Amino acid sequence: MAYRIRRATRADASFLVEMACEAANRHPDRVRPKADLLADPAVMRYARGWKRPADDGVVAVDDSGESIGACWYRVLPRNDAGHGFVASGVPELTLGVRPMWRARGVGRALLEAACDLARESGHQRVSLSVERANFAERLYRSEGFVVVESGADADTMVRALR
Ligand SMILES: CC(C)(COP(=O)(O)OP(=O)(O)OC[C@H]1O[C@@H](n2cnc3c(N)ncnc32)[C@H](O)[C@@H]1OP(=O)(O)O)[C@@H](O)C(=O)NCCC(=O)NCCS
Repeated sequence: MAYRIRRATRADASFLVEMACEAANRHPDRVRPKADLLADPAVMRYARGWKRPADDGVVAVDDSGESIGACWYRVLPRNDAGHGFVASGVPELTLGVRPMWRARGVGRALLEAACDLARESGHQRVSLSVERANFAERLYRSEGFVVVESGADADTMVRALR
């Protein structure tokens, strides 16, 4: 099955809400109902109101044009900081892939494309938050992210882009 990666547009708003829910439900043994996630401002801050001026990202689409995954970033203000906040102006990444498309390289390809976009947009670094138990932390390390802060279950990671 083939896919391609394109720039995210305003029309992707509802798909990014869906992917923000996937990214928040990263523990198979602690799955939260979608209605809970949609009502949780800590989850929705990553997607609601897309696409604001500093927002950018990429979407993977399959052969039929169906969206299958996304990686995007937002510059969140200090007074509404995300879990991966490191400093004002540093964009925070979110990554999610539809379950049936996982483990086929889509997540890594999206991550690389979103980092390229952030670099081209002039950002010096990007950050994210990942649960330490999530294999995705290894994916991020292999793409140049380093842990800058450790919480009880999650790490904040940063990648220098230049
Ligand atoms: C995390 C996620 C985005 C990764 O996307 P993906 O398309 O499945 O990942 P890829 O196929 O690009 O794989 C990336 C690496 O992870 C490894 N990997 C993939 N699935 C894995 C799994 N279930 N367990 C362990 N390693 C795994 C791959 O082997 C690959 O490493 P390699 O290139 O050295 O072989 C996706 O699984 C997902 O949406 N998960 C739920 C949401 C989530 O956890 N988001 C991240 C929040 S920080």
